[in-house]
Amino acid sequence: MKKFTKKELNPEEQKEKERLQRKKSFNGLTAKEWASLSKNVWNDVSSPRVKKHLDHGATFPEKLANRFIQMYSGEGDLVLDPFLGTGTTLEACRNTNRHGVGIELNERFIPYAKEVCKQSTLGNSVNLQVIHDDCRNMLNHLEEESVQLMVTSPPYANFIQRSVEDRKKTHKTSLIKHANKSTVNQYSEKEEDFGNLGYKEFLEGLKDVMTKLYKVTKKGGYNVWVVKDYRDTKNKIPYIEFHSDLAKIGEEAGFKYHDLIVWDQTGQRKLVLLGYPSVFYTNQNCSFLVVLRKPNGN
Ligand SMILES: C[S@@+](CC[C@H](N)C(=O)[O-])C[C@H]1O[C@@H](n2cnc3c(N)ncnc32)[C@H](O)[C@@H]1O
Repeated sequence: MKKFTKKELNPEEQKEKERLQRKKSFNGLTAKEWASLSKNVWNDVSSPRVKKHLDHGATFPEKLANRFIQMYSGEGDLVLDPFLGTGTTLEACRNTNRHGVGIELNERFIPYAKEVCKQSTLGNSVNLQVIHDDCRNMLNHLEEESVQLMVTSPPYANFIQRSVEDRKKTHKTSLIKHANKSTVNQYSEKEEDFGNLGYKEFLEGLKDVMTKLYKVTKKGGYNVWVVKDYRDTKNKIPYIEFHSDLAKIGEEAGFKYHDLIVWDQTGQRKLVLLGYPSVFYTNQNCSFLVVLRKPNGN
């Protein structure tokens, strides 16, 4: 029979230790599970892109939302995505047994998100809801302090619009368009669409959203923003530090800047030559995952 040393737990003891750890942690994770999820550079979250993703042009992978949901919520908690797009966050909720609610302004993407909810009613007991509205109206749809986790990727001001224009004029045959299979499209012509706002107006809009998110987030709950920094070289702005502007807005609304994770996307994008041989720009091949937390009052 195998002898166990003092430090080594037998399988029954190990099971009991893990049961107690799961009970203690709000997300139901053991110490070992948290350790494996707690890397702050990610390069293993890509998921296959199907028609709806190509049609939308700016979706994030289900695995990315799924990982955040495991990290910052427990089974049965409510997860919100105020810029829902095709409903990827709801897909991750369905796969992890969390309730989910998403808000999307543009009717073009609503059927994709509603399809995710239909699949859920067939399979399990989570409650998934799609709201067709401007997310600045979220207080009409959500109760205060009801959301454990918000996961979202907002438009990056009018970055897509400018990028579409640029490609028409200057990148007809470039690697940006062809090797990286980029399919960017403007979301809509609507005034309320954050993708149609200049950067200053856009940050004002986000301040409004952030204040409302603070109200609907539970004490101790988390808000995760998937964003990219970018350049506006035409207007002689070499670098727009969107992720830090966002974190500042979050702090002004009352959140704590809790964590920063880098999503390394070099595997999905080929390098292109930028600014050579004069100003020497690097490629922007990563996204920043900004984690904010509402203080829990202790
Ligand atoms: C980057 S995409 C999100 C994609 C999503 N993560 C997915 O995987 O499908 C941003 C979305 O925000 C939506 N949007 C823009 N302005 C909005 C507003 N004021 N309220 C709600 N949604 C808005 C756009 O239509 C777009 O679908």
